[in-house]
Amino acid sequence: MNVAATSRTSHISHPREDASNDLRQRLAGAEPLSLRTYTPSQTIIERSAGSYHWTPEGRKLADFTSGVLVANLGHNPTRWWRRVFDYLGLNSLDAEQEFAEAVPLTSYNAATPIEILACERLLANMRREPGGGRMEQVLWSASGSEAIQKALWACLELDSRRDIIIATRGGFHGKKGLAGATTGCETDKDRDPRVRFVGFPKEECADVELRRQPISLETYELELERISKSVGDRICCLITEPYLGGGGSFHPQPEYLQLLQDFCRKHNAVFILDEIQANFGRTGPMYAYTRYGVEPDIVCLGKGLGNGVPVSAAVGRADVFAAMHYGQASDTWSANPLASAAVLATLDEFENYDVIARGKQLSAILEQGLVRLKQTGLIRNVRGEGCVWGIECDRAGSYAPEEVANACVEACYLGNAQGLAIHLLGPLSGKVIRISPPLVMPVSEAQLYLDAMYEILCSLRLRLR
Ligand SMILES: Cc1ncc(COP(=O)(O)O)c(C=O)c1O
Repeated sequence: MNVAATSRTSHISHPREDASNDLRQRLAGAEPLSLRTYTPSQTIIERSAGSYHWTPEGRKLADFTSGVLVANLGHNPTRWWRRVFDYLGLNSLDAEQEFAEAVPLTSYNAATPIEILACERLLANMRREPGGGRMEQVLWSASGSEAIQKALWACLELDSRRDIIIATRGGFHGKKGLAGATTGCETDKDRDPRVRFVGFPKEECADVELRRQPISLETYELELERISKSVGDRICCLITEPYLGGGGSFHPQPEYLQLLQDFCRKHNAVFILDEIQANFGRTGPMYAYTRYGVEPDIVCLGKGLGNGVPVSAAVGRADVFAAMHYGQASDTWSANPLASAAVLATLDEFENYDVIARGKQLSAILEQGLVRLKQTGLIRNVRGEGCVWGIECDRAGSYAPEEVANACVEACYLGNAQGLAIHLLGPLSGKVIRISPPLVMPVSEAQLYLDAMYEILCSLRLRLR
């Protein structure tokens, strides 16, 4: 057992937060700490609306996380909730009746019309975008890892002699099953021998300015060639992310993804793009594949797909999914009607309102405000696109970048003298702070909180000597 981590987490408390501190204490007793990723704030959120959370003490926090890139439309959008209830047939509940006649909340071994509508609407939406030409069927699931697992299962079923999966080194596809097997790199313990890794151009896109330069692909071509020589006829698929999310927020030059796709086409391997955190406007366009100039065989969706209702999907070539038979990808929650209603309501918002345009405006403000943070002396690199950015912390005095990153998260949570406070995720790969507010955060408010963040980091710099 990791005693240090146990005591560190269970003793988190903050000044003047009696109610939150009490809840943190009860949480530590009631749930194993493994359920949460470590964050020095351990925020307790009582209510949320739009781009804000409120603690039990009534303290307001600007949300720079969208959950974990989930609430792209903000928290609890009223019109969206109404649509969810509409799709479920629950908008006029009669308290006198014991049961409402409405869409059921189960669909195991049965299908609801809204599930079919959700498939058709999602496919039409994806096909409409450049690069969506191979989007033919939807394989639903509940979490991101499950969507990845199902996509990989299908590829492995295509031909029993082709059992090799290629993944990008340092990527993150989830923790469970094959999603975990394709996460990380070959030196991690207990690797699945079927997974081979190819490098990702981290250094070439370590900062937003560097990413604007073209890159040499030679290193990656050579590596792919080596894999091809040793197991070329056994490769069934390659999985990658449009950008390394959990791996530290690295957004590659498009030619890198195009190289991976070309390799797949040459080897008749399925090209899987994991858009679980990139989808639904996060990187700017509705789907990241449109901007990277690729046409994936399968795209995995999650997070923003249901704006908070647990739902994910592998979407793509029907002939690949046809490799699995009845039951091989079924489970209790996949294609759940609540999930279908949430997907439909989310599509309604993106298709009928200016969510993408608002995200674009916000993106420019974010880039400017985050690049300015370099002047605080605590931030070394800033990288991102759309409304997903990573700020990589630097060493400060005797403090390592990882300690600086945790101190930044905590300082933002505690806020400035005017009470402006920001909710952030715990750092990614040790020292990178993820900035990913809802796409609909008003730009003036984003500016206000970016200025507050600058001020908070300047004060922190003075303390970290
Ligand atoms: C790119 C990517 N793929 C897969 C996953 C796994 O999703 P989940 O946590 O829903 O299983 C994540 C989660 O952060 C992710 O960012």
